[in-house]
Amino acid sequence: MRLLVVGGTGTLGRQIARRALEQGHSVRCLARNPRKGAFLKEWGAEVIQGNLCRPETLPPALADIDAVVDAATARATDSLSIRQVDWQGKVNLIQAAKTAGVERYLFFSILGAEDYPQVPLMEIKSCTEKYLTQVDLNYTIFQLAGFMQGLIGQYAIPILENQSVWMTGESSPTAYMDTQDIAKLALRALEVPATERRTLPLVGPKAWTAAEIIALCERLSGRQARISKVPLGVLRGMRGLTRCFQWTYNISDRLAFAEVLASGKPLTADMSEVYPILGLDPQDVASLESYLQEYFGRILKKLKELDYEQENSQGSKSKKKGLFF
Ligand SMILES: NC(=O)c1ccc[n+]([C@@H]2O[C@H](COP(=O)([O-])OP(=O)(O)OC[C@H]3O[C@@H](n4cnc5c(N)ncnc54)[C@H](OP(=O)(O)O)[C@@H]3O)[C@@H](O)[C@H]2O)c1
Repeated sequence: MRLLVVGGTGTLGRQIARRALEQGHSVRCLARNPRKGAFLKEWGAEVIQGNLCRPETLPPALADIDAVVDAATARATDSLSIRQVDWQGKVNLIQAAKTAGVERYLFFSILGAEDYPQVPLMEIKSCTEKYLTQVDLNYTIFQLAGFMQGLIGQYAIPILENQSVWMTGESSPTAYMDTQDIAKLALRALEVPATERRTLPLVGPKAWTAAEIIALCERLSGRQARISKVPLGVLRGMRGLTRCFQWTYNISDRLAFAEVLASGKPLTADMSEVYPILGLDPQDVASLESYLQEYFGRILKKLKELDYEQENSQGSKSKKKGLFF
């Protein structure tokens, strides 16, 4: 198939582009800055310049495309707001895809989005889901919980570097999934007619609280976490403050996720219907234990090698810092 991946430079989008290329699809990636997408070109993708918020850039990107995989979202540090990218930009993309006559459209939403109308990104995801079901497009909506990749920066690296690990007292258990598995399952949907015009959850095998993840990282790394607790009220206060400045709107909107944490409602779903539909085995999906075990195993081995080198030369501290990413 000829695929257009939107958000190919992002955490999930790059895994989708890589896997699609490995599977023999022809992949075009829409990138705001093609230089940032140079690695996608090296993998064999075509990279075309475009921006969801510049609708005139979308028809050329959609020419001769069979399926769109939309893995884009506003970056917290972006000058464009969540509303501009995740709502108006997505409406632009959906309309352009419909006009171009694409056969399939994959969209990534967030599990339980409809339950949090007070959280901007959740409200927008929920509206986009509804919009997609109303336009004449052959969509599949995947409702995701969280990415295992995000836990490396949040917990694993601070623990390895003996830095503070920040957590709120409350934490909704979340069924994190490896983005490589999300890519595998999502692309499989392109081959399965039973996924057409369906909304499916895509979550990991078990929901974890922050305290459980920290305990797991401590066990696997053999190091103790320096935990700093942020009261939820402080996050709410920061949200109010960041809302005062246009350039921190996206940060404010991200802080609104504190409300999701405060709900205590688990971000997880029953996947027993999804695996048979996709014709895949739940055993093929990484658990959080195996994902973090692989990460810490690799990093701790490298650290040992660097310590050995340090006996012979100076300056390995800076090398160690770069290693964790
Ligand atoms: N991260 C999670 O835990 C999580 C959980 C549930 C659902 N999701 C959903 O999963 C999807 C992928 O998320 P992610 O974390 O992989 O995203 P990400 O790493 O933040 O990447 C976002 C991507 O969107 C692109 N983008 C942003 N604004 C754009 C615009 N105006 N025009 C074109 N492209 C634009 C970015 O390109 P640049 O390189 O140019 O910035 C980047 O490639 C999103 O729909 C997200 O809402 C994520």
